[in-house]
Amino acid sequence: MARRRKLYEGKAKIMYEGPEPGTIIQYFKDDATAFNNQKQGVITGKGVLNNRISEYLMTKLTEIGVPNHFIRRVNMREQLVHEVEILPVKLVVRNVAAGSLAKRFGLEEGTQLPRSIIEYYYKSDELNDPMISEEHITCFGWAATQDLDDMVTLSLRVNDFLVGLFLGVGLRLIDFKLEFGRWYNEHDEVQIVLADEISPDNCRLWDVATNEKMDKDRFRRDLGGVKEAYQEVARRLGVLPEA
Ligand code: C5P
Repeated sequence: MARRRKLYEGKAKIMYEGPEPGTIIQYFKDDATAFNNQKQGVITGKGVLNNRISEYLMTKLTEIGVPNHFIRRVNMREQLVHEVEILPVKLVVRNVAAGSLAKRFGLEEGTQLPRSIIEYYYKSDELNDPMISEEHITCFGWAATQDLDDMVTLSLRVNDFLVGLFLGVGLRLIDFKLEFGRWYNEHDEVQIVLADEISPDNCRLWDVATNEKMDKDRFRRDLGGVKEAYQEVARRLGVLPEA
């Protein structure tokens, strides 16, 4: 069998050329990294769980009309996605103070924010993903003003939807990171679509009753029970694969 062409290997995923032009296979690894690769580890089974969780969430987002790159899951570790031009800007949406926001402003983790906020980070391992403003994004041409408007609108819709979805399974969506891409839709128009993945690797999820952390912070902060937390998120969403 012909070997697939590897297009890109990231920290948690590998991208292979897809079976049809304009498609990509997204392979979910068990590798975990934090603090821009300074902490590395393996969470056995994480890739399988994130593949399922992201499939579930992207499918739900498609159902409510949030354009995204997901086409279908192919197997335990792989999903077929549309090839998009990834924009070099990460959007972080925050509902509750935690992580770098809590640290930067000396806030107690868990403090409810008066309203949801969006932050922008420039995607660059060398520069450690610096926080940026809209001015930097448009000045350096990382995204056009219209693209940025679309990313913000989509992020807020995703947040509203996911807050409710997770609350329904007893989880608080504290914050999360999104990535976007640009592609030509079926009408040959340029469109901004959600890309990458949505999983406990890039969301903070706390149990509603106990405030227990059910996400990658368990790995970042050596809290133990990382795999079990990811499994519990998958179980609550009804997508835990059979052993
Ligand atoms: O560390 P910080 O508080 O800025 O992270 C905010 C959110 O963005 C968290 O949910 C974290 O998982 C996610 N994030 C990410 N990838 C990064 C940085 C943050 O998925 N490189």
